[in-house]
Formats: sequence, C-alpha cells, structure tokens
Amino acid sequence: MSFPLRIAPSILAADFLQLGDQVRQCEAAGATLLHCDIMDGHFVPNLTFGPPLIAQLSRATRLPLDVHLMIAAPERSVDQYARAGASAITIHQEVSPHLHRSLSHIRSLGVKAGVALNPSTPVELLEPVLGEFDLVLVMTVNPGFGGQKFIESVLPKLEKLADWRAQELGKYSIAVDGGLDERTAPLVVAAGADTLVAGTAVFGGNIADNFRKLCRAAGC
Ligand code: DX5
Ligand code: ZN
Repeated sequence: MSFPLRIAPSILAADFLQLGDQVRQCEAAGATLLHCDIMDGHFVPNLTFGPPLIAQLSRATRLPLDVHLMIAAPERSVDQYARAGASAITIHQEVSPHLHRSLSHIRSLGVKAGVALNPSTPVELLEPVLGEFDLVLVMTVNPGFGGQKFIESVLPKLEKLADWRAQELGKYSIAVDGGLDERTAPLVVAAGADTLVAGTAVFGGNIADNFRKLCRAAGC
C-alpha cells in the first residue's frame, strides 16, 4: 500500500466567518483532505466545535474530513462523529485506556481509525496495536492551539513508525501535526511522514499560494 505525500489544511486557523469560502479555496488549491480539530477544554485548554459543524462541512465539501479528537473519553463521542460524516477519526493515546477496543470500534463504524501521540508520549506504546489503526498522528506541538513552535525532538518517532511500516507490522498513514511550514515540512518528510497537517501556514494570507509553497517545500 502506498501513502501519497499530501498537505491537510487544518481549519482551526481558518476565518470561521468565511469558512465555506475558505474550504472551497482549499479544494481549488488541490487539497485532498481537510483536518478538523475538536477540543473540549479538558484534555486540552481550548474549545472549538463539535458534530454539528462536521455534519455541515460534510454536506458542503467533497473533501474527506479527518477528525482529530482532542477530548477526554473520546470513545463516548466517536459514533456521533462517524454519523456526522467523518472519514477518519483520530483519538489520543493519552486518554484511551482501552485503545485496542476503541480503535476496533472506530473501524466497525466504517471510518478510518487514527491514534495521536502528544510530544512527550513514547511511540513504543503503539507497538501492541500496530495492526489496529489506519493512521497515526504524531503531534509536533502540545495540542490545544495553532501557531505554536515545532518540536524537533519528536522526529525520531516518525523514523520508528516508518521502520515498523517497512517491516509490514502495520499499514498506516504517518501524519504530523503542529508547527509545519516551509522550513519544517522537509524535516518531517525526510523522517517518514506522508501527511502534513498545517493550519497557520495554509490560512494566513492567500490560501492557494500558501498551499503551493508548502507542497513545494514538502516535495509533493
Ligand atoms: C493543534 C492542532 C493542529 C493545529 C496546527 O492542537 O491539532 O491541527 O491546527 O496548527 P499550526 O499549523 O498552526 O501549528
Ligand atoms: Zn490537529
């Protein structure tokens, strides 16, 4: 299975009063995935939006919705996000004591299952569940806010995940989230990432120009 290199715009950095138009600009720029950040004010110190906005987006765009749940007890909400139209649902390892069960449950809903790791969470914790997820989201900032500084010490986790995948221990996309721009994109691609989530670098200014520059820097 091959995993094409792609940029996933994170709407966290969009102008919410112009959201429909900004999503159309992402489509026109060539995006093939839209990243949606759900925050609960508990697991992370910030609040965003929930299933109603995901449902509206799924009617408004043909782009698959990559839903990143930064919420406590995510297993309680995955059904709602699947019904709302998510194509992938990512839960955090740190708040998923029954990770194997939760990932299998997400897949049973007909949705891709993803697992996210905070910068301080060791990647080895995923070894027992390598066959159970379709994507891994490696956080290169502490989740909760856009526009933070990229944490370079996370890069070896990408190499480890790429190595496991090369050994066919799992079939998963390797996604990176946080602080990605023209300088940091090549670093994560060299370490093995195929999906680059970017908020500030896409939505700050002209979306088409930003997207093109980031793609060029990443090599896609
Ligand atoms: C951070 C979110 C990210 C965020 C990235 O908690 O999960 O998806 O939008 O934003 P930038 O690209 O601005 O670091
Ligand atoms: Zn995210």
